[in-house]
Amino acid sequence: MKPEPQPEAFLPGLGNSPSFALIPVQKLTRDQAIQELARLAKTIAYHDQRYFQDDQPEISDADYDALALRNRQIEAQFPDLRREDSPSKRIGAPVAKGFKKVKHRVPMLSLENAFTPEDVANFYDRIRRFLSLDHDEAIDCVAEPKIDGLSAALHYQNGRLRLAATRGDGSEGEDITENVKTIGDVPVILSGDHIPESLEIRGEIYMSRSAFFQLNQQRQAEGEPEFANPRNAAAGSVRQLDPSVSAKRPLSFFAYYYDTLSGDHTLTHADCLDNLRKWGFSVNPEIKLCQTEADLTNFYADINSHRSELAYDIDGVVYKVNNLTWQKRLGSVGRTPRYALAHKFEAEKAETILESINIQVGRTGVLTPVAHLKPITVGGVVVSRATLHNADEIARKDVRIGDHVMVQRAGDVIPQVVSVIAAKRPATAVPFTFPTACPVCGGEVSEIPDEVARRCLNGLQCPAQAVERLKHFVSRDAFDIEGLGARNIESFFDEGLVRTPVDIFTLEHRDQKMPTPLRRKDGWGIQSAVNLFNAIDKRRTISLDRFIYALGIPQIGNITAKLLAKHYGTYDRLMQAMHDAQIIGSEALYDLLNLDGIGQNMAQDLLAFFHDPHNITLLKDLKTQLTIPEFILESRQDTALSGKTVVFTGTLEKMSRVEAKATAERLGAKVAGSVSKKTDYVIIGADAGSKAKSAQDLGVTILNEDEWIQMTK
Ligand code: IVH
Repeated sequence: MKPEPQPEAFLPGLGNSPSFALIPVQKLTRDQAIQELARLAKTIAYHDQRYFQDDQPEISDADYDALALRNRQIEAQFPDLRREDSPSKRIGAPVAKGFKKVKHRVPMLSLENAFTPEDVANFYDRIRRFLSLDHDEAIDCVAEPKIDGLSAALHYQNGRLRLAATRGDGSEGEDITENVKTIGDVPVILSGDHIPESLEIRGEIYMSRSAFFQLNQQRQAEGEPEFANPRNAAAGSVRQLDPSVSAKRPLSFFAYYYDTLSGDHTLTHADCLDNLRKWGFSVNPEIKLCQTEADLTNFYADINSHRSELAYDIDGVVYKVNNLTWQKRLGSVGRTPRYALAHKFEAEKAETILESINIQVGRTGVLTPVAHLKPITVGGVVVSRATLHNADEIARKDVRIGDHVMVQRAGDVIPQVVSVIAAKRPATAVPFTFPTACPVCGGEVSEIPDEVARRCLNGLQCPAQAVERLKHFVSRDAFDIEGLGARNIESFFDEGLVRTPVDIFTLEHRDQKMPTPLRRKDGWGIQSAVNLFNAIDKRRTISLDRFIYALGIPQIGNITAKLLAKHYGTYDRLMQAMHDAQIIGSEALYDLLNLDGIGQNMAQDLLAFFHDPHNITLLKDLKTQLTIPEFILESRQDTALSGKTVVFTGTLEKMSRVEAKATAERLGAKVAGSVSKKTDYVIIGADAGSKAKSAQDLGVTILNEDEWIQMTK
């Protein structure tokens, strides 16, 4: 039972109006109920503000819950008195701000997507090559439906549920323990035996289709906005701050993975699933162990043909290598494991009318044509814009304004116009003329013969590029400044408050002298302005890899940024190298090109970036605002290979070159393509050629494959 609300002190700024807070709900007269609902709406809104916007709650969660409960109870008694601004009508995003953050002990990865049988064949080939398996060696895989919900991590200690968290950005999620406890499929206490002391379960929270339809019916009857699809409904429900609301939303859970974090002897993924079942979890009954690639594609075809009969939405199937020792060896690249693949169902398509075409100018000046469509629902989501990719694609598909077009949405990718329905072309349809000047700044547009993309050549002088670069600068894998999203960047840019990344760090200082400081602007307040400045300050110390990525250098994504950070180690060494490498024939250029993962083309973009006078000034100014510590790989402290440079040559017999390289990198080593006096080890396989000779000449330590395996064990 929730406690009745305590007679709270009158709230600041709310006036001392009479209150019927102490009268039990059943005894309220209609007039008293009207006044009580008004008081509760105001009080709860006040506490929402203190909690969500100001991050300074004044009352306990239990007291807040009691207020919300009383409001709902009065509304249940007098449904016609429900106010337009009733707290029970508010749902959705801002609520999430109130959840505690949880750092994942092991990052929550995502999956690489496959769309065709060739993609699946490539997945197999890659595993075979990586593990150096014979072409006829079986690779058992478990095939599982890919549930369209949201993943969660559940921590059990001595068989008891202690913590549940959302995936969040993969490294940090939100604490949803109380809400997860309301899910019937999630055992709060595990059953069976051999339960590891510490256990982390991963799985998917979802809403069945029937529960979703019922919920929407109910919401429609209550005049509430309906959820677009079961996934949104599940996400919205699990992110309710009030677990009693969550409890009323019928959520389900399928477990698909666990980690004991304390040494485990399970050999296969199929065994893991068995254990999960024994401990009391729901494991998807469609899951199948497959021996061959053909078994997988049959599973895919089979489940695709009866997916509409399943009780829940799925958007594909997941294949996972069954052998856990292999899984471990395969490891992951970036955020996706090599041992698993999501084979997605064909994208959902729908027909609509293309009303106009706009040009969007991206961070690197690329001009992308965007189709504005008559809004249409594709796979449960309303789509009104879709990409047309580039001028060549418009010409190839002969897309004209006014055409009937097929639009598709696959997974989370941007919707695209796939084809024109020529038979329905109206006489009024007009071809699109690609602009010859940048539509934002009027600057010159390049038409490089081999490059399909057309670019605005005005660089940071072009406002569109400047804004996009700023958005990238503050994005999740870059500076990740809380409260400084795309919308705020745009309005700060338009007002002239933030024009370059440096302006972000001088904003607070300049703001103090503004006639209308941030705190007095529309939609802002003292607390939210303070929160923003604090969030900016928190990022004045930034790791070198994030810093490099944030610069938005063409082709330099977060993996390459990490590679560069690892190689150069400090900001100063990176700058020096980028300066020196501008000279053809320099050792710095040779060193850069020798880095595994940096091609000629990428090196050109890098050097062009560090040569540009605007960028040089920007970097100099930024450096005065920031602290960029030496880049330390997490694994560096305790491995003999930390910071060493290794070169592989010849054919390795017990593992593939890719696996050997991945292991070296995991242990903190750099892998180079050729031997120099900076090389620490050369690992020699069969038929090694000239590199072995140079190693000998330079006196570099040479290891054979067994010695290498010994060293990396
Ligand atoms: S395994 C390391 N198995 O798909 C791999 N994921 O696109 C971790 N999902 O974030 C995921 N059903 O939310 C796995 N049977 C299944 C799944 C599944 C749905 C979701 C999950 C994940 C996303 C990746």
